[in-house]
Order: sequence, then C-alpha cells, then structure tokens
Amino acid sequence: MIAKLTESMPTYPRRSPERMQGALARLQDQEWTRLEGAPDTEEALKAFHGGGEIWYVASGTAALQALLIGHEIGPGDEVITSAYTWGATISAILSVGAIPVFADILPDVPLLDPSCVRNSVTPRTKAIMSVHLFGCPCDMTALRAVADEAGIYLFEDGSQAHGSRWQGERVGRFGHGAAFSCMALKPLAGTEGGYAVFEDAQAAERAYLHGKHPRGLDPQRLAQWKDKDLLDALQLAMRPCAIGAELVKSGLDTLDEENAARRENARTLRRLLAEVPGVEMDPEPEGAEPVYHLMSFRLDPAKLSPAEAMEQLQDSGLGPFLYIPVPLHKLPRMDWQAYEGPAVFWHEQLKQAGISYQQQSLPQTEARSRESFQVGWNWIEPNPKAMEQIRDVLAELVGAAL
Ligand SMILES: Cc1ncc(COP(=O)(O)O)c(C=O)c1O
Repeated sequence: MIAKLTESMPTYPRRSPERMQGALARLQDQEWTRLEGAPDTEEALKAFHGGGEIWYVASGTAALQALLIGHEIGPGDEVITSAYTWGATISAILSVGAIPVFADILPDVPLLDPSCVRNSVTPRTKAIMSVHLFGCPCDMTALRAVADEAGIYLFEDGSQAHGSRWQGERVGRFGHGAAFSCMALKPLAGTEGGYAVFEDAQAAERAYLHGKHPRGLDPQRLAQWKDKDLLDALQLAMRPCAIGAELVKSGLDTLDEENAARRENARTLRRLLAEVPGVEMDPEPEGAEPVYHLMSFRLDPAKLSPAEAMEQLQDSGLGPFLYIPVPLHKLPRMDWQAYEGPAVFWHEQLKQAGISYQQQSLPQTEARSRESFQVGWNWIEPNPKAMEQIRDVLAELVGAAL
C-alpha cells in the first residue's frame, strides 16, 4: 500500500469575497448578456498581454476557430501541429475544413520540434499551430523563423499557459495570433470562456463577422458591413458568458502570483526527485518560464507502465490520470479508412486530402503517451511539505530507497 498525501491543494479557482462580489454584481446590476461581449475583460487582457486585438469568446475552442477563420484558413489548407495535445486543438482545425498535419515533439519536452515542423511544410501549408502544453512555452524563436521562412502564419494555443514566458515575454504575441481557454480548470479561470489575440486587425474583423452578434458590433463596423449587405444572423454564437468574463478579469489580479507558486513548488519537487531514479519531471528548457498547469511524470518503461502507476496510485491522493493515452493521430475517429462508428464530419475532408494518419510514425509523441502520466498542479501557494510527500509517494511507486 502506497502512502497517502496528507497535504491538500488550496481551493481552486480562488474564491475571494471581492471576486465573488464582482461576479454577483454582474447578475445584480447589469444585463445578463451583453451582445457586444466583454469589452472590459478584453481591455484588462490587452493590458496583460501588452497589446493585440483581443476578443473574449465562449470557449478556448471558439477562440481557436476565430483565429483560423479570421486568417481565412479553410477547406484543404494544412495546419502543422502536435498530436500530443488536448483534442480541441485538432477539432478546431478540422471544424473549418482544414487538415491537421502532425509534426513530432522534442525528446525531452512535449512540445513541437521546430525541425520536424520545418520538414512538414508543403505548398498547401497555411499555418503552424504551436501548443504550450502543460504550461510550458514552445521555442517561439525557432518556430517563428520556420514560419517566416515558409511565409505561413504562426499561432499559439496558450490554453494551458496563461502568463508563461518565452525569453522573458509572455506567450500570446509571438506569432500572428493566439487562443486561450478560460474554462475553470485553467490557470486563468472563468466558468467557461476563452479569448483570441489577433495581431492583424483585419483578421479580427473577418472573425467578428462570423461570431459577433450583429447588434453587438461597434457602430463604425456596423455601418461598413451594412453597406455591403453582410450583416446577417449567420454567426457561430461565440458570445461569452458575462459572469465568466468577470471572473477572468479579476483572476488576472492574482495570476502571476499563483504561477510563481506553481513554479516554486515544481522546482522544489524537481530538486527532491533528483534522488529518485525511475521517475522524471520534464526539464525547463532554457529561455522558458513555464506555469505548470499540469505536472507530467515520465516513467522508466523497463520498470513501470503508466497504467500500472495509475493502479498503484489510486488511493495516494495524488490524483493521477493519463492525459493523452493515445496520441491524436492514432485515435479511431481520425482513421477514416477503417472507422465504423457514428458518422464523423471530418472524414470527407481527410479522404479528399488523401491523408492517412495511421501510417504515420511520430516516435517521440508515441513514446510520451506510453511512458508518462499527469497530475493536476493547482498548488497555488508554496508548500514544501506537500512536495516532500509527493516525492515519498513517487519513490515508493518506483521502489526507490531514500
Ligand atoms: C491545449 C488546449 N487547447 C484547447 C482547449 C479548448 O478549450 P475549451 O475547453 O475552453 O474549449 C483546451 C482546453 O481544454 C486545451 O487544453
């Protein structure tokens, strides 16, 4: 029987009286929906990111769709991305008719390998969608160089990485656009929600036409589109929830402090785990300041599989899970040739593109799925005692003597 953690994570998201009051005031004092969206949250996010055209929307998935639509990415266009991500990165690409092209990840961190991205560029490539998975930023310098060389867009899926930094700069403004989820499990938590950052105001305009309520458009935009008979209700309801937007705005006040604690705890655990062979944390790449949305542990496959670890850790209080047990290119619903379940709308576009993911080998991606498991990391206050307990549990798991 493995020992139990007695320390527990702080309540997350934080529920300070001021924060709760802000959300309540939305209900009490204002309209329950605002067709123009959440302009004050957008202003606060703009200050946080140091500029950009920010659109606060209903979800991270909607933010990804807004980015793609705004940059006119559609049927047949290829978007290079990672197969080691949350599925929404991919379903957003599929939802606009585009084709995800998977490049492998780096051996030591679960992030796109820029040289594999470069090798995946074809004349049909329109964009790279980088993913700052688990809160660790990709090498945005190298990815930007690949994008510029190929003349394609570079986007960031920062849904797990609000406030993380690459070379000292916050993620979100390294490419042509970025998307963030703000659902309640994320580092910047609303109830549900998300936002897109656009560098090109024209791209944002094109996205608004698909997702803003016509009565919520600013008067200048309204006049411009009215003249061209473009104002109609053919929109995708990316409209956000006003209460979630309020919680995101107030969440910005404590985000950096919470991220610093997540990082400090991670560093404490890294130091402690140095004495435990057989289980590893991902290194912090030089130039990266991660925020540790989730913590990933990698096991020595000769000793233990993640499934065995799951079983043994069941009652440990660590709350382990397999975040990406099957890399996305190997999912049955991506296999349009052999699939037999309920209809999947993207099969026709994959068929037309002649793309067959089952044949593709992504060695680093596949090894990650085989060898790692994850835990939540809402340790938003420094807690060295909890880190010692986690170390003890993991040492017992891999049978290491301390
Ligand atoms: C990497 C990544 N991309 C996109 C999303 C989609 O965000 P949402 O669930 O808010 O639509 C998530 C969130 O779960 C995510 O983790």
